[in-house]
Formats: sequence, C-alpha cells, structure tokens
Amino acid sequence: MIIGEPHTEKPIRWAMVGGGRGSQIGYVHRSAALRDRAFDLIAGAFDIDAKRGRDFGVELGVAADRCYPNYGALFAGEAARPDGIQAVSIATPNNTHFEIAKAALAHGLHVVCEKPLCFTVTEAEALQRLAGESGKVVGVTYGYAGHQMIEQARAMVAAGQLGDIRLVNMQFAHGFHNEAVEEKNPSTGPATCSATSARTRSILLRPSLPSSRSSGCSARARASSRAVRRSRTMRSH
Ligand SMILES: NC(=O)c1ccc[n+]([C@@H]2O[C@H](COP(=O)([O-])OP(=O)(O)OC[C@H]3O[C@@H](n4cnc5c(N)ncnc54)[C@H](O)[C@@H]3O)[C@@H](O)[C@H]2O)c1
Repeated sequence: MIIGEPHTEKPIRWAMVGGGRGSQIGYVHRSAALRDRAFDLIAGAFDIDAKRGRDFGVELGVAADRCYPNYGALFAGEAARPDGIQAVSIATPNNTHFEIAKAALAHGLHVVCEKPLCFTVTEAEALQRLAGESGKVVGVTYGYAGHQMIEQARAMVAAGQLGDIRLVNMQFAHGFHNEAVEEKNPSTGPATCSATSARTRSILLRPSLPSSRSSGCSARARASSRAVRRSRTMRSH
C-alpha cells in the first residue's frame, strides 16, 4: 500500500549495491522502498567508484562506515554486525547481477534484483536452489507487469474487444540507451519503430486511441505506413 505511513514497526534493514549518483534506476528503488517506510537504507556499495559511492551514501544519510567500497565488503561487513542488513537491492549493470545475487544469498540476505536476474536457465536454477536452501526471497523488478497500460491491454483482450490475438509486437524505446543499441544494430532505429508501431497500434489500440494523443513515433509510423501504401498503389498501376 502506498500511503506514506509506516505499516510496520520494524522496517527491513536494507542496502543497495549500485544505484549510485546519476544512475538511472537507483532513485526509483529508493523512492519506492522508502515510500511506506517498510525499508531503512542503512548500508550500501553504491558505485563502481568507491569514493563516489561513499560520498553519495553519506549524502543519502547512510553512516560513512557502512558505505562500502564493493559488494563483497558490504556483505561481509554487515554480516559481522548484530544490526546488519536483512535485504539488498541490486541495481548494477546486467552482467553483474548473478554473482552479486549469489553472494547476497550466501550471506543470508533477501534480494531485490534488477532485471535481468541472470543470463541462463542454469544460473536461474542455481539462484532458485540457493534461495530455497536459505529460505530467502529473490524478487526481480519487472515493473511493467504492473503498469496501467498493460492492465488495460489485458482487460481489453479478456473482454474480447480485440478479437483473436494473432500477433503481439512490443517495443520499448529507452532514452539514451537507444543510441548505443541503434549504432550496433541499425535495424532497431526509428524507421523500424515507425513501421512496426503502425501495425501494432492498428491491432492493439484502435478502439480507444484518440489521434490527438498519439505519440510522435506513431505519427511518424502512420506517415510512413501511408507512404508505403502510396508506393504500393503506385507500383500496382
Ligand atoms: N526495471 C526497470 O524498469 C529498469 C529500468 C532501467 C534500468 N534497469 C536495470 O537496472 C540496472 C542498472 O541500470 P541503470 O540504467 O541504472 O545503470 P547505470 O549505469 O545508470 O547505473 C549503474 C550504477 O551501478 C554502479 N555500479 C556498477 N557496477 C557496480 C558494482 N560492481 N558494484 C557497485 N556498484 C556498481 C554504477 O557506478 C552506477 O551507479 C540494469 O540491470 C538495468 O537493466 C531496470
């Protein structure tokens, strides 16, 4: 329940690995976790750069001696304290999640891990086994599973408003990450987005999408799809 009032007398003693200053998702974890005061942020290894992480942690109100230079020191240091952390959020780059989650479970911590939890089924099964053995919870932040747009789409499908679903095509245009991805693989660029968005929207959203509220991408998509139709028409004559 997001009400801003405490609903537990004993907030969970909590730390973060990653999510340092300027990171994209760190603030989201902190603001969500602290919103109903179920978590106390009391330790962390917030940054790949130890000094920057320490400065940032102190600014957040974490004691300097509990701002650790890396996750190994965090887990070991906190395990040695009677008031050590009970849970940790992992908000580091993808290729670090598995090792950090494994280490956290080995230290008896509950884990909230950014997506993706790991890269292979074998890794996932190893984490599942460790979590089972230690009786700890591992949660992955698939935030969009609870997004209103997804709920609306689900309700529309359930109500039969979209008929039989033959194709679901989703894209997530992701801010500054786009450019690096597009450089590596030009087929992910705006032109592709436009063409597929036009088809997707015509399948998924036609019943309720007023044209005045459509995005720039879908406007481009409609223009591009009109152009495709025009050129097909011209070719067929
Ligand atoms: N759930 C979502 O909707 C969502 C959205 C954005 C990002 N993410 C995920 O969150 C994770 C982080 O993404 P981001 O965009 O915030 O990255 P980012 O690069 O902006 O920030 C990463 C942070 O982790 C720190 N860091 C890196 N390696 C570290 C290590 N070994 N130990 C401690 N700190 C370390 C960096 O210094 C930085 O502060 C990624 O796995 C990404 O997939 C999820």
